[in-house]
Amino acid sequence: MQRWIVTGGAGFIGSNLVRQILATRPEVEVTVYDALTYAGHRESLVDCEANPRFRFVQGDICDGPALSAAVAGAQRVYHLAAESHVDRSIHGPAEFVRTNVEGTFRVLEAVRAAKGVRLVHVSTDEVYGSLGPTGLFTEETPIDPSSPYSSSKASSDLLVQAWCRTFKIDAVITRCSNNYGPYQMPEKLIPVMVRKALAGQPLPVYGDGLNVRDWIHVDDHNRGVLLAGDKGESGRVYNLGGEAERTNLALVKRLLAHLGRPESLIAYVTDRPGHDRRYAMDITRARRELGFEPEVRFEPGLDATIDWYQQNAAWCDAVEGNASHRAHLTRNYQQR
Ligand code: NAD
Ligand code: DAU
Repeated sequence: MQRWIVTGGAGFIGSNLVRQILATRPEVEVTVYDALTYAGHRESLVDCEANPRFRFVQGDICDGPALSAAVAGAQRVYHLAAESHVDRSIHGPAEFVRTNVEGTFRVLEAVRAAKGVRLVHVSTDEVYGSLGPTGLFTEETPIDPSSPYSSSKASSDLLVQAWCRTFKIDAVITRCSNNYGPYQMPEKLIPVMVRKALAGQPLPVYGDGLNVRDWIHVDDHNRGVLLAGDKGESGRVYNLGGEAERTNLALVKRLLAHLGRPESLIAYVTDRPGHDRRYAMDITRARRELGFEPEVRFEPGLDATIDWYQQNAAWCDAVEGNASHRAHLTRNYQQR
């Protein structure tokens, strides 16, 4: 039996990754290591709790000794724990530097001390900054982050690179575009818009709504993350993406149509400072070297995701009860 650790396994992507590992890797025992911040929820793992191959440790990645104790004896660490929301990083960057930079440093030190552990560092296309109307991000695109969030992730990527070169740890870095799917915190575009549309409230579209994101279903992202762990070359970066570029406006209009709500609910609000205009990923390397292929087509995947939020209102109500989350929503949307 192998023992794998998933940091941030109670978050959106992490909880879906744990579910995928338990379903597809019968030889693996998974330990979630998660601090349960406002973004981490045991409710996102309810269907995993009874599995004998599932363990949960509540811990902070900045707590070196606790983290090292969890990592000792493991074969792999999938590192997803992070502060992940750009708007929150603009209102309060300190926590992003602590968790994403110092926390990743602690993860690297725990991996170095444990020996024989493979690290998969889950990063983002946002480290590349913004594209103009044409072109794609490749792994050779210079790092050029715009927000406190993306600069903290870029910093963490550079730490991983240095630990590979200097200390010869075994690590790969994945950089992925915008994920969608079940269990995403209702602070990100799709769940925010579903919740507001269902409540008959205005849908706050930042700026002119023509910013472009490259959407990928969370299960496709996680297939890529697992392939990177299985086949990735140590020290190498792999871009992952869904090849589904959409403007925010087109996405929101489709969401309203699926819910049968009027486009008059769209409200253009003050833009996000430093708002990247366009992201789009070149996934040639992951295709060629890992055999990665996104499988979920965007429109049916979006429709199923919208249905999931409608059918899981109790999960949304529970996670929205968090005081820090409520304070963020008030501050973020009242001042626009
Ligand atoms: P999320 O905010 O939904 O979940 C983050 C998880 O990390 C939560 O469970 C939280 O409790 C945990 N966490 C936060 N600080 C911690 C700490 N100090 N110690 C231990 N646990 C802590 O995030 P997500 O959207 O699932 O993103 C997961 C990872 O994937 C992040 O590293 C993010 O940068 C990366 N990523 C996200 C996307 C996306 O579209 N969401 C795309 C590419 C990459
Ligand atoms: O690209 C990968 C990144 O995708 C990840 O690294 C981040 O962790 C993840 O949060 C996501 O970042 P974005 O900033 O792209 O996601 P968000 O859902 O916050 O916003 C998507 C787009 O929608 C962006 O152009 C801003 C816009 N937006 C967002 C919100 C919350 C709105 O117009 N209105 C909103 O209320």
